[in-house]
Amino acid sequence: MRKIARGSSLKPNIRPARKEDFDALLDLENICFKEENFHRKQMEYLLFEAKSIVLVASIENNIVASIIVLIRNNISHARIYSLNVHPDYRRRGIAGLLMDTAEKSLKERGFKRISLEVGVNNKAAQGLYRSKGFSVDKIMKKYYKNGDDAMHLIKEL
Ligand SMILES: CC(C)(COP(=O)(O)OP(=O)(O)OC[C@H]1O[C@@H](n2cnc3c(N)ncnc32)[C@H](O)[C@@H]1OP(=O)(O)O)[C@@H](O)C(=O)NCCC(=O)NCCS
Repeated sequence: MRKIARGSSLKPNIRPARKEDFDALLDLENICFKEENFHRKQMEYLLFEAKSIVLVASIENNIVASIIVLIRNNISHARIYSLNVHPDYRRRGIAGLLMDTAEKSLKERGFKRISLEVGVNNKAAQGLYRSKGFSVDKIMKKYYKNGDDAMHLIKEL
């Protein structure tokens, strides 16, 4: 990713991911997660094969954040599967913007509920989801490969 001046006040452009974004999305995933990160094959599946909504936030044509939402036909329940913001661009509301945009699109398509899993130690993401109105549904013991528990969160749309 080309370096953009930190503190740049430029507003991100939120748009659906395109095929040519693949490498940037994979880079972002590897920057944001050292464990449990999606590998190339999984990312290919999520982007090109799965029924999903994939949005990116770009600043000066560089992708700085992404969200992947899994959807299924005939099920009014969507699942946020991935949400990444490059470390240099956090705490500027970009994740919130991606979630709001995804949520708007889900509502327009008739979805009634969003769910997601978040690590019990991931306080940043928990803060974000709480601020967006998600509540804890249940704890999923040893959900991650490293043995950490996850919280299953839900929000009615
Ligand atoms: C979690 C993550 C997506 C948040 O992205 P972000 O763009 O910084 O989030 P936003 O700026 O939209 O934050 C919105 C609100 O979320 C909460 N929040 C975000 N980061 C937080 C932190 N580090 N600590 C506490 N609360 C936090 C705050 O309430 C914040 O509002 P505020 O800045 O007005 O206080 C980002 O830290 C990230 O990519 N982390 C690594 C990947 C990850 O954990 N993804 C989620 C997997 S479930």
